[in-house]
Amino acid sequence: MSHQPQLLPHASDHDYRLGASEAERQRLLAQGDLLRPAARELLDRLPLAEGARALDVGCGPLGIMDLLSARTGPHGRVTGLDADRRMIEWARESVAALSLPNVSLVQGTLPSPRLPQAAFDLVHCRLLLINNAHPRGILGAMAASARPGGWIAVQEFDWASWHCDPPHPAWDRLKSLLVPVFGGDVHIGGQLPTLLREVGAMDIGLAAHTFYWRPGDRYQGLLLHFAGLFRDRITANGTDPRTLDALTTELRRHLAHPDTVVREALLVQAWGRIPPA
Ligand SMILES: C[S@@+](CC[C@H](N)C(=O)[O-])C[C@H]1O[C@@H](n2cnc3c(N)ncnc32)[C@H](O)[C@@H]1O
Repeated sequence: MSHQPQLLPHASDHDYRLGASEAERQRLLAQGDLLRPAARELLDRLPLAEGARALDVGCGPLGIMDLLSARTGPHGRVTGLDADRRMIEWARESVAALSLPNVSLVQGTLPSPRLPQAAFDLVHCRLLLINNAHPRGILGAMAASARPGGWIAVQEFDWASWHCDPPHPAWDRLKSLLVPVFGGDVHIGGQLPTLLREVGAMDIGLAAHTFYWRPGDRYQGLLLHFAGLFRDRITANGTDPRTLDALTTELRRHLAHPDTVVREALLVQAWGRIPPA
């Protein structure tokens, strides 16, 4: 199967509905800290040599560029690509603060006139596809950016396992109200093996990670945070604002109970090799 799929035109879609606010910057940086050990494990599984060339697509304010920078070393080259100008500015600040000399940044989407095709040893994205209406287009463009014999690697959540215990109807209802307005497929994580195969990747590898949260943990209330961010879209979709307020009040009370635990969405990691020429 060719890794030059017919889906490239949609790769430019970048309606990132979580926005580019200072709060979202901080959320992404904190989330990056949380997911750093998993990202290290992922890179341990990939043959990324010193001197390699890596691309982090949808890098946000840092993504995994610090890890890629350390792995590829002084002769390596890491490129961070993001559609959003503010994200690129913040990434520039992170790169300067962490003194990552081998990292450069590009604003845009794939395919970008500023980036070579069929050139990178590794093309990676994390939490890019879940927010995007055209994940196949992005993956196809990622595959086309990797050199023959190079790798693509993807880390995406799957909300299927995002759950609170004891269960509560307000959790289920709020989660189901968010699914159609989130901007992408919240179950994309579970589809990564098929999606990677569809863009021509071979030797597919898989791993997954999750977490448990308790009251007081930053991510115990993430569903409530999203319900706040997407309030206008949820009500525009037909939910009465009073119903939404009642659900969030009920759920806030439930999540604050000392016995309530939240199991995080599953972070699925999938990687595959682009066939050698
Ligand atoms: C959820 S954030 C993840 C950031 C980073 N990968 C991380 O793990 O912290 C998604 C990022 O992808 C960017 N983005 C969305 N669609 C894009 C596209 N088609 N091409 C490049 N960047 C995109 C957004 O601007 C945002 O910075």
